[in-house]
Amino acid sequence: MTSLELASLKWSILVLHGPNLNLLGLREPEVYGSTTLSAINQMLETEAELLQAQVSSFQSNHEGALIDAIQAAYGQHQGILINPGAYTHTSVAIRDAIAGVGLPTVEVHLSNVYKREPFRHHSYIAPVAVGQISGFGAESYRLGLRALVHHLQHLQTKR
Ligand code: DQA
Repeated sequence: MTSLELASLKWSILVLHGPNLNLLGLREPEVYGSTTLSAINQMLETEAELLQAQVSSFQSNHEGALIDAIQAAYGQHQGILINPGAYTHTSVAIRDAIAGVGLPTVEVHLSNVYKREPFRHHSYIAPVAVGQISGFGAESYRLGLRALVHHLQHLQTKR
């Protein structure tokens, strides 16, 4: 991409993938599909260009590393697209980080968590997210990115 093209990109979005999502492709494909994480990241880059946005993706198996990334996003990115993985159901600290930086955040899940075990039915993240998309496999990320950019555009026109 040329520097002129980069300068015309509008929204900068941080994409966060939580624990075990680095195993996509190998991990329970009957639940999570066979698309790898790098294919998802690539798909998001292509989609972002169509939306006049750019994405920076980061995966970690560590709660603190995800929190550091959320804090560092303040002033660097306009929104966060996050699949918190199992931390969805356990992490008050990730929820507090999102609330703390106040960046519009969309929560996504590959699987439909509400069709699964009861412990997956509660999300600590949902109350601080703009919204949640769950159950569309890798497509959840694309839908989530579109929803987030749409939300940011809407916020801008309201100013
Ligand atoms: C997940 C759902 C979580 O319950 C699970 O712990 C994951 C993946 C999903 O994308 O469907 O790691 O977030």
